[in-house]
Amino acid sequence: MTRIPKHLAIIMDGNGRWAQERGLPRIAGHYEGVKRAEEIVYSCQELGVEFLTLYTFSTENWKRPTTEVKALFELFESYLSKRTAELRKKGIRLRFIGRKDRIPRSTLRVMREAEEQTKDCNSLTVILAVDYGGRDEIVRAINKLLKSGLESITEEEFSKFLDLANTPDPDLLIRTAGEERISNFLLWHIAYTEFYFSQVYWPDFTKEELMKAIEDYSCRKRRFGAVL
Ligand code: IPE
Ligand code: IPE
Ligand code: MG
Repeated sequence: MTRIPKHLAIIMDGNGRWAQERGLPRIAGHYEGVKRAEEIVYSCQELGVEFLTLYTFSTENWKRPTTEVKALFELFESYLSKRTAELRKKGIRLRFIGRKDRIPRSTLRVMREAEEQTKDCNSLTVILAVDYGGRDEIVRAINKLLKSGLESITEEEFSKFLDLANTPDPDLLIRTAGEERISNFLLWHIAYTEFYFSQVYWPDFTKEELMKAIEDYSCRKRRFGAVL
């Protein structure tokens, strides 16, 4: 029987290599990657996934050439402004996690608008991690905590200070393009997440590839430290 993860997280990697192998500029890979992201969003909705968290831009991705960073934000902003209405119509809610102090102002405006317009949608929630780093999320939470005057805290209370609050931890994390590392994604939340690494570059990650990951996940025995 296929078990559908309630919360799926994806590190969408390999856009650059996909493009380079075709003699195209890296940004062409990002364009194709956005299309695949949209397809995966709709597939997750069909399958009944409740939360889908997509790693879109990391706190380390600022190290890339300015032209690539600029193109990535332009692409992201234009996608959001064109597609939010459609997502809303389909009942898909959009949320964003990550720093808010370095993202271009026009992009931030479109993000706030998308969040506002879809806040009552109750089908799939898509969480986009933009200028996101797991360590940065934890440190920002600690700074909020220091200001709150609390002297001691439980794990459950601490998690409320994180960007990804009020969301169950990811059941399954997929990373594409053959790399087997976390790259600073969701450090707190993946304590008991199952990992699946795919060799396929993100622009080639179709619904069929998603199903392979979910089938594999379905066969896992999750023990959470207990004896089953
Ligand atoms: C992932 O693809 C997209 C982002 C990090 C924004 P990459 O751009 O990292 O592609 P590769 O890893 O260079 O192939
Ligand atoms: C992780 O991919 C970030 C995103 C997918 C947004 P990277 O391509 O930036 O990761 P590294 O540099 O290979 O670890
Ligand atoms: Mg990469």
